[in-house]
Amino acid sequence: MNIAIIPGDGIGREVTAEAVKVLRTVQERFGKTLAFETLPWSADHFLQSGITIPANGYDLLRSFDAVFVGALGDPRVPDNRHARDILLGTRFELDLYVNYRPVRLLDERLCPLKGRGPADVNFAVFRENTEGLYVGVGGRFKAGTEDEVAIQEELNTYKGVHRIIRHAFEFARARGLTKVCMADKSNAMTHGHALWQRVFKEVASGYPEIHPTHYYIDALAMYMVLDPGQFQVIVTNNLFGDIITDLGATFQGGLGMAASGNIHPGRTSLFEPVHGSAPKFAGRNVANPIGAIASAALMLETLGWTEESAAIDAAILQTVKDRNVTQDIGGSLGTAQAGDAIRAALLG
Ligand code: NAD
Ligand code: IPM
Ligand code: MN
Repeated sequence: MNIAIIPGDGIGREVTAEAVKVLRTVQERFGKTLAFETLPWSADHFLQSGITIPANGYDLLRSFDAVFVGALGDPRVPDNRHARDILLGTRFELDLYVNYRPVRLLDERLCPLKGRGPADVNFAVFRENTEGLYVGVGGRFKAGTEDEVAIQEELNTYKGVHRIIRHAFEFARARGLTKVCMADKSNAMTHGHALWQRVFKEVASGYPEIHPTHYYIDALAMYMVLDPGQFQVIVTNNLFGDIITDLGATFQGGLGMAASGNIHPGRTSLFEPVHGSAPKFAGRNVANPIGAIASAALMLETLGWTEESAAIDAAILQTVKDRNVTQDIGGSLGTAQAGDAIRAALLG
């Protein structure tokens, strides 16, 4: 397998280093081969060269079996232009329409919700990843004046809504799950989200064994906190999925814990932790590498290396149980030492 590695900015570099080391340890233990190619695309690279992503960048990414990203975002690039091209651009250009973000609590101790444990926090969020409010349609008129008009359009297509909802139901069916919850704001957004309502009912009718439920997104956020155990699969649009997965990450112990896959089934897909570049932690060896390492596990699972993926997840769980972890989740290790602990657990 050929993997493109984009460490990116800030703590992205530190957590990516740990994820790659874990993948090398997987090769050692299982005797399988991964080849890595590191791409320098980042804020530094952009500030030095003026290039966010080269002209052939997306084609280059397509030539790999998978792409791993640390994080993109740097205060020196306030308009986030490089992240838009490298991260959002890849989601769009490679048509990675499934943003799969598992919300799984490993240890009761890490959950800020009173009395909740791993049995209560175990669901998957499917975030639509190629349209919605992220498409950049709109503009500003009379910018910088008191007459400024700013328009940001939300794009919802039948095809786009259909394929993410269908993916959520297929995921549930494949795992014998019984519930899929769709969240929108169709009470206020009466055009775009009426489409979500229509398509959800249409797709659900093809899965009689699965109970379809619906919440408006504001209520969903409340129920996630009050009663997370009711959720198995949540499907929602691009922006709402972004927001509720940071909330979901807190249930898992914080942003440092959460993994994600940006997936087009059967094609080159991109894996990254849910968190960003956390500039305040950059270069300090404090960032939690678990979200990145769990994203690497998700990558292997998606590539069909299920045994290897499960071994990484088991090693993560062991270090969490043993508290051989970073400070954000109650340990005393640095980023690199927490990564070492996971590798040691992997080798048994
Ligand atoms: P962030 O996720 O970078 O950090 C928010 C806070 O969460 C941090 O200050 C820290 O307290 C905590 N945190 C995050 N990751 C952690 C880790 N691995 N270990 C321990 N604690 C961790 O979000 P932000 O501060 O809103 O954004 C910073 C930059 O990152 C911005 O430029 C933003 O656009 C970008 N960003 C990029 C991605 C991505 O590349 N996928 C995702 C989110 C944000
Ligand atoms: C994420 C991030 C990105 C998003 C940003 C960096 C554009 O927050 O991957 O969750 O909003 O999708
Ligand atoms: Mn986000």
